[in-house]
Amino acid sequence: MTDNTNLKDLETSDREHFFHPSTHIGTHARGESPNRMIDNGSGVYITDTQGNQSLDGFAGLYCVNIGYGRSEVADAISEQAHKLAYYHAYAGHTSEPSTQLAEMIIERAPDNMSRVYFGLSGSDANETNIKLIWYYNNILGRPEKKKIISRWRGYHGSGVMTGSLTGLELFHKAFDLPRDPILHTEAPYYFRRQNLDQSEQQFSQYCADKLEQLILAEGPETIAAFIGEPVLGTGGIVPPPAGYWQKIQAVLNKYDILLIADEVVTAFGRLGSMFGSDHFNIEADLITIAKGLTSAYAPLSGVIVSHKVWQVLEQGSDQHGVLGHGWTYSAHPLCTAAGVANLRVIDQEKLVDNAHQTGAYLQQTFKQAFADHQHVGEVRGEGLLAAIEFVKDKNDRVFFDVTDQIGIRLAAAALDNGLITRAMPQGDILGFAPPLCITPEEVDLVVTKVQKVISQILN
Ligand SMILES: Cc1ncc(COP(=O)(O)O)c(C=O)c1O
Repeated sequence: MTDNTNLKDLETSDREHFFHPSTHIGTHARGESPNRMIDNGSGVYITDTQGNQSLDGFAGLYCVNIGYGRSEVADAISEQAHKLAYYHAYAGHTSEPSTQLAEMIIERAPDNMSRVYFGLSGSDANETNIKLIWYYNNILGRPEKKKIISRWRGYHGSGVMTGSLTGLELFHKAFDLPRDPILHTEAPYYFRRQNLDQSEQQFSQYCADKLEQLILAEGPETIAAFIGEPVLGTGGIVPPPAGYWQKIQAVLNKYDILLIADEVVTAFGRLGSMFGSDHFNIEADLITIAKGLTSAYAPLSGVIVSHKVWQVLEQGSDQHGVLGHGWTYSAHPLCTAAGVANLRVIDQEKLVDNAHQTGAYLQQTFKQAFADHQHVGEVRGEGLLAAIEFVKDKNDRVFFDVTDQIGIRLAAAALDNGLITRAMPQGDILGFAPPLCITPEEVDLVVTKVQKVISQILN
């Protein structure tokens, strides 16, 4: 811990120099919103420089899957830094951990997967996906097949193209997004369906029909791919309604449209299965990975390419020559060393099983504790990914006014009670995605704290 004068100086310095991502620029600069400096972490807890400890119920940004303070991963990064901190991966170069990690990923990925391309963030991996899909269709002699369909409320990053794929207002507003050729279709959000008489299966069919109508209106020969998260994440933490992925895939197959499963949140155990694609029987052509790949001990992402796509890319390389795509830091050895050590911890401590078992306990306990509350519209989730959605009137499904800021106030009150949750955008939704090492006792603690907070804000 740093002394108080020093902390004040640091806070002033931060407000004067640091341009923070996803932050209200004005209130931060003027000192009107919190400025928290995190100092250390262990297991599911983090501690700030003032000495306040919080149970991190969102694992950072759903990424610190093995929990904080694992020296195995820190040591692997340090050893690699001493041996070879960097060499690039262009023109067939590699380092031991990069090759090893690619093999470990393919061993764990769905059976139809062939190769891994490494990037640094979920956003850049999805940028890679878009380029690979355009390249693929150019090789196949289909230059008009370039449009990509995403879903409203999907989250796929905040770059120019990935921010366009993202289907949330905040990420478009005043940034001149979305850009062509990105289109959006219905969010698979059963709780917010317009027709309350629909069953889950009927709503899934409705989503598939809307997708097909969009494809036909645009012309199937112009649609290259569809992207979706197995469980809608930042858009509200919404598991798919029954039958959704099967019905969507039938439409995509009918019109020869590739499927990108964005597994930045769901891969490596979050849902209680190694991959969300396996969990929901999704047969993707490309899979985006990041977060849980290194548990955020170092920035690393990847695109896992299926045999079907790889064959075309390989064949096209003789025509087009060297792939004109790559970053200086693709497959950075420090990051891939972190990835290898992280996947070993996941295996050794059976964290995917824990996400399955403790996840089932969390889902059940959350439902028992919150579902009957007069202001809880829905408790939902899968594995160690969960959400509580709050409503003004439960019987008529009336949502709170945005200006009431219920979700934001609940999350702030939880923080005051030593619990980090996330107020998800576009709704009053508290999100939970704790480290996969969480215990049932720690889940109980989360429940007790949330109960207290709900009674403070919504009595
Ligand atoms: C599903 C999904 N895809 C992509 C991204 C973007 O990842 P990054 O923030 O590393 O660019 C995120 C980030 O939360 C995500 O949840």
